[in-house]
Amino acid sequence: MSSTFKNNDFNDVVFGRRSVKIYDEQVKISREELTEILEEASSAPSSVNLQPWRFIVIDTEEGKAKLSALASYNQTQVKTSAAVIAVFGDLMPQRHIEEIFSKSVELGYMSQEVKDKQQPMYEGLYDNSTPQKLRDIVLIDAGLVSMQLMLVARAHGYDTNPIGGYDKANIAEAFDLDKERYLPVMLISIGQKAVDGRPSYRLPVEVTTTWK
Ligand SMILES: Cc1cc2nc3c(=O)[nH]c(=O)nc-3n(C[C@H](O)[C@H](O)[C@H](O)COP(=O)(O)O)c2cc1C
Repeated sequence: MSSTFKNNDFNDVVFGRRSVKIYDEQVKISREELTEILEEASSAPSSVNLQPWRFIVIDTEEGKAKLSALASYNQTQVKTSAAVIAVFGDLMPQRHIEEIFSKSVELGYMSQEVKDKQQPMYEGLYDNSTPQKLRDIVLIDAGLVSMQLMLVARAHGYDTNPIGGYDKANIAEAFDLDKERYLPVMLISIGQKAVDGRPSYRLPVEVTTTWK
């Protein structure tokens, strides 16, 4: 990762993040920079390092028109953002285990012995998982990359809005994905804010936490 971030201020990146709904329509983000943002976000952790997140970057008029019809309650973000990133989870992430583990051996991150032992074990684990278990794993992993993406976007000087209000039953097919394999996770609009996001209340730690 070689980004020189526009904003390296941890406090501002993390605690200045708000869900931004209205963006400056004049500000576009190049596909090169969006690729960088996705690469950086993808350093997020994942179960067995299988990285089950898949992204569709919707940054064309045509793509946005299609998305608009599926995100009726979130039109402003779709219309004004530089792009909307549709995050999906691959319910067959083990299809990439050979590539990930071989590359890890080649790069010296994993020994051949560990690969030979762990790969069949994990393949079996994923192959024999129930659909519910797979869904849970993939949703957690894709949630982590989504959060990281939103913070990386801030470091690049942009804002985001995670969006769950869209037609999850039809998004995969609308964008030519196999809906049995790719689980919709969330949309993330990204762009330069035109209007600040509203501050929001957080429950105190006493409510969310118990100590044992
Ligand atoms: C999974 C998820 C789904 C969300 N869906 C929507 C949505 O459909 N529309 C919207 O305007 N905001 C949506 N939000 C944004 C939340 O309302 C927002 O994160 C929350 O109010 C806290 O505000 P903040 O993000 O500015 O800290 C969603 C957030 C998450 C994490």
